[in-house]
Amino acid sequence: MSGEISMIGSVILALFLAGYLGQQYLPPPKPKVIGLDLGTTFCSVGVFLPGSGEVEIIRDQEGRKSIPSAVSFTTTEVLVGHEAVDLANCNPQNTIYDAKRFIGKAFESEVLKEESARYPFKVMNNNGSAEFEIFTNHTFTVTPEFIGSRLLLKMKKMAERQLNVPIQKAVISVPAEFDERQRNYTVRAANLAGLEILRVINEPTAAAMAYGLHKVDVFNVLVVDLGGGTLDVSLLNKQGGMFLTRAMAGNNKLGGQDFSQRLLQYTTEQVQQDFGVPLTLKEDLHRLRQAVEAAKLNLTLQHSTTIRLPLHFHSSESSEGSAPAPVLFQSVITRKLFEDLNEDLFQKILAPIKTVLTEGHLEKQEVDEIVLVGGSTRIPRIRRLISEFFGKEPNTSVDPDLAVVTGVAIQAGIMGGSWPLQVSAIEIPNRHLRKTNFS
Ligand SMILES: *[C@@H]1O[C@H](CO)[C@@H](O)[C@H](O)[C@H]1NC(C)=O
Ligand SMILES: *[C@@H]1O[C@H](CO)[C@@H](O)[C@H](O)[C@H]1NC(C)=O
Ligand SMILES: *[C@@H]1O[C@H](CO)[C@@H](O)[C@H](O)[C@H]1NC(C)=O
Ligand SMILES: *[C@@H]1O[C@H](CO)[C@@H](O)[C@H](O)[C@H]1NC(C)=O
Ligand SMILES: *[C@@H]1O[C@H](CO)[C@@H](O)[C@H](O)[C@H]1NC(C)=O
Repeated sequence: MSGEISMIGSVILALFLAGYLGQQYLPPPKPKVIGLDLGTTFCSVGVFLPGSGEVEIIRDQEGRKSIPSAVSFTTTEVLVGHEAVDLANCNPQNTIYDAKRFIGKAFESEVLKEESARYPFKVMNNNGSAEFEIFTNHTFTVTPEFIGSRLLLKMKKMAERQLNVPIQKAVISVPAEFDERQRNYTVRAANLAGLEILRVINEPTAAAMAYGLHKVDVFNVLVVDLGGGTLDVSLLNKQGGMFLTRAMAGNNKLGGQDFSQRLLQYTTEQVQQDFGVPLTLKEDLHRLRQAVEAAKLNLTLQHSTTIRLPLHFHSSESSEGSAPAPVLFQSVITRKLFEDLNEDLFQKILAPIKTVLTEGHLEKQEVDEIVLVGGSTRIPRIRRLISEFFGKEPNTSVDPDLAVVTGVAIQAGIMGGSWPLQVSAIEIPNRHLRKTNFS
C-alpha cells in the first residue's frame, strides 16, 4: 500500500519535474518578425530574442553587422551590399547608392537635374519621380524602391540563414521627416522583397527605444543623428508610453565626410610644403584619402596618430622606364589639431539643437535624456560639445551605428508578441511637422 502511494507520488513528481525541466530547457520560440534599418549609406537587420530579452544584430557571412546600401548591375547579375561596393570603381554608372534620398519623393525637374549631377550614375525624371538608368547588355531603368527591395531581400535572407526559419514579417524605420508617400514607397520596397510590414517607426524613436526610454520615466528626449553627410536633430515627447515628435531640424550638408575633408586639405598642403610639388596623381590622392579616414577613426580613441604613406607623384606609365622611387610622407596628427581644423563645423551642430528647443518651447534643462546616433557622434569633441551645452552626459552606451536597428528590433519583438511585459503602441504619428534645415 505504502509502496503504491510512493509510486504514485514518484509519477506525480516525475511529471512535475518534466514540466519544470521542459520549461527551463525547451528552446525559446524563434523570432518571427525582424527589425530593419534601411539606411542611406548602411543597412542592418536585428531580432528580439524572447529567451534572453536581448536584441541580436544579424551578421553577414563575413561577420559584419551592416551592409552598404549599394546595388550594382552587371550583364549577368545584380550584386548587393559589399559586393556592389567592390564593383563601384569599375562599374560606377551601374552601381546605385543613396537610393533612399529618392524613394517616394516628388521632384521638380530642375532639382532632380542638380541631384543627378552629384552621382556617377544616371538619375532620370519619370513624371516627377526619380529612376536610375542602367546600361548592361541593354538599357533599362529601375526605381528607388526596387533598389531598396534588393537590400531588404538580402537582409531577409541573412536573417533566415541565421535563424533557420522563413521570415515574412518585419518592422522598418524611416526618417522622422518622411511623408506618407515616402513611407508608402518604403513599404512597397519591403513588399517587393516578400515582406509584410507590421509597422513603420521613426528612426529617432527607434534610437530612444534602444536605450529603453519607452520603459522609464522620461518626458523629453533629444536625438542627435550625425552620419557621414547629414545631421538630424529630433525632439521627442513621451506621453503615456507613446513617443510624439515635437520638432525636427537638421543640416543636410554636414557630417563625417566634411571633417575628413578638412584633414585631407591640411595633409595635401603639408605634402606641397614638404616636397615642393602638389599632389596630382590620382592613386596618391586616393590612398591619402583612405589614410586620412583611418586617422580620423583612430583619433576618436587616441590622442595622436601618424600618417605614413609612400607617394609617387608621377604615374609609372607616363615616365616610361624611369619611374622615380616613391618618397615617404609622414605626418603626426593630434586630436587637438583635428579639433582645431573642424571647430567651426562642430559648432554648427548646435544650431539645429537650439531650433528644436525653441520650436518645442522647451528650455535645455527640461531635456531628460539625450541620445546620440550615427558614427560621427563618436568624435570626442562632439560629445563634449553636446554635454557642455546641456550640462549633462548624453546616452552613448549603444553603438551609435546600431542604435536605430536595435530599437526597430525591440519594436519587432513587441509586434511579434514576444515582449515579456506590456507596451505595444509606441509612436503617435504626426502630420504637418516640417523640418528646419540649416545649410
Ligand atoms: C549579356 O551578355 C553576356 C555575355 O557578354 C551573357 O553571358 C549574358 O547572358 C547576357 N545577358 C542578358 C540578360 O542578355
Ligand atoms: C504624372 O503625375 C501626375 C501628378 O502626380 C498625375 O496626375 C499623372 O497621371 C501622371 N502621369 C503619368 C503619365 O503617369
Ligand atoms: C499610402 O498608402 C495608404 C494605404 O495603402 C493609402 O491609403 C494612401 O492613400 C497612400 N498615401 C500616399 C500619399 O500615397
Ligand atoms: C589606427 O590604429 C590601428 C590599431 O590601433 C593601427 O593598426 C593603425 O595603423 C592606425 N592607423 C593610423 C592611421 O594611425
Ligand atoms: C541612458 O538611458 C538610461 C535609460 O535606459 C538611463 O537610465 C541612463 O541614466 C542614461 N545614461 C546616461 C549616461 O545618461
